[in-house]
Amino acid sequence: MIFKSVPHPSPTPPARVKALVAAPKFGSVFTDHMVVIRWNEEQGWHDAQVCARGPFSLDPACAVFHYAQEVFEGMKAYRCDDGRIALFRPFENARRFALSAQRLAMPQLDPAMFVAAVEMLVRADVAWVPDGKGSLYLRPFMFASEAFLGMRAAREYIFCVIASPAGAYFGSERDTISLWVSKEYSRAAKGGTGAAKCGGNYAGTLLALRQAAAEGCDQAIFLDAAEQKWVEELGGMNVFFVMRDGSMITPPLGAILAGVTRDAIISLARDGGMSVEERRYSFEQWCCDAEDGHLTEVFACGTAAVIAGVGKVRFCGGGFTIGSGRSGAVTAALTSRLEAIQRGREPDRLGWFHEVTSQ
Ligand SMILES: Cc1ncc(COP(=O)(O)O)c(C=O)c1O
Repeated sequence: MIFKSVPHPSPTPPARVKALVAAPKFGSVFTDHMVVIRWNEEQGWHDAQVCARGPFSLDPACAVFHYAQEVFEGMKAYRCDDGRIALFRPFENARRFALSAQRLAMPQLDPAMFVAAVEMLVRADVAWVPDGKGSLYLRPFMFASEAFLGMRAAREYIFCVIASPAGAYFGSERDTISLWVSKEYSRAAKGGTGAAKCGGNYAGTLLALRQAAAEGCDQAIFLDAAEQKWVEELGGMNVFFVMRDGSMITPPLGAILAGVTRDAIISLARDGGMSVEERRYSFEQWCCDAEDGHLTEVFACGTAAVIAGVGKVRFCGGGFTIGSGRSGAVTAALTSRLEAIQRGREPDRLGWFHEVTSQ
């Protein structure tokens, strides 16, 4: 597909871009451009363009407003020390996007077209990619744009990619985060949309997140919906448990999002000789293992924050500390290994480094 390039009428002056990119708060500043591709039943995917970022004009009867047919992705472009700009495993996001779309009865975008769209935006807004520890957060998304009321899949969709320069997700001075165990609210049920990256999943976790904040915690972590027993994931991150013998446990795929970071960590840990079990781990066992010191580290992971050590856990009626409450050695080692690959500082033996521009 050919992307039409629509010139920006008044791009941000370079000095202003530099200032905006210097220390951005996550998700608060957006770049000049966006990519848009439309879909309808007659033409399929068509009218691909890179244009000035701006509002959509939508009919109030648009299906997305009523039936929440919307899916999205989150990925990052990194500026390497030698000036190259790279994505991390973008085809994994593309494939997951297609699966999310399928689950929500939406048309699937070919992974190659998805990656080409993301690359187009990175090239258009290359000046917005921060250096140092920052990165350009990319948000591909798709929504039902057909105006109608009624219970059926829409017949028109808009795919779009926007970008936002990003610094540290939890603030650079943070060593660990704290978790609130949500026992009142579930994130996903068997047969539901837990494994899809759709907006509705996130709307459903916001009340738990608000509760977490009221309890002085950074994030909420969810248990399975059927028994409220098995640990699943955070509202926007997967979770790993590190045991004293150096082995790790992470909840199995099914109702959780198949994180690209999660998958990378499993590979890196196994590559380094660690045993990683993808299996169910109960909240009760978590409490016991933390109490008797069998559990030494816990970390959450995802594209936005990469890896965040967990220091404290709270729940209705109690709480506990993981190890010393500080980020541990396994968390640090995996973080530095992953970041080295993402930023092209380590040879890319696994084919995860996807160069977009050479400077
Ligand atoms: C619910 C949920 N779990 C896990 C993740 C981590 O996924 P990834 O590592 O692909 O960013 C995310 C972020 O996308 C998420 O929203």
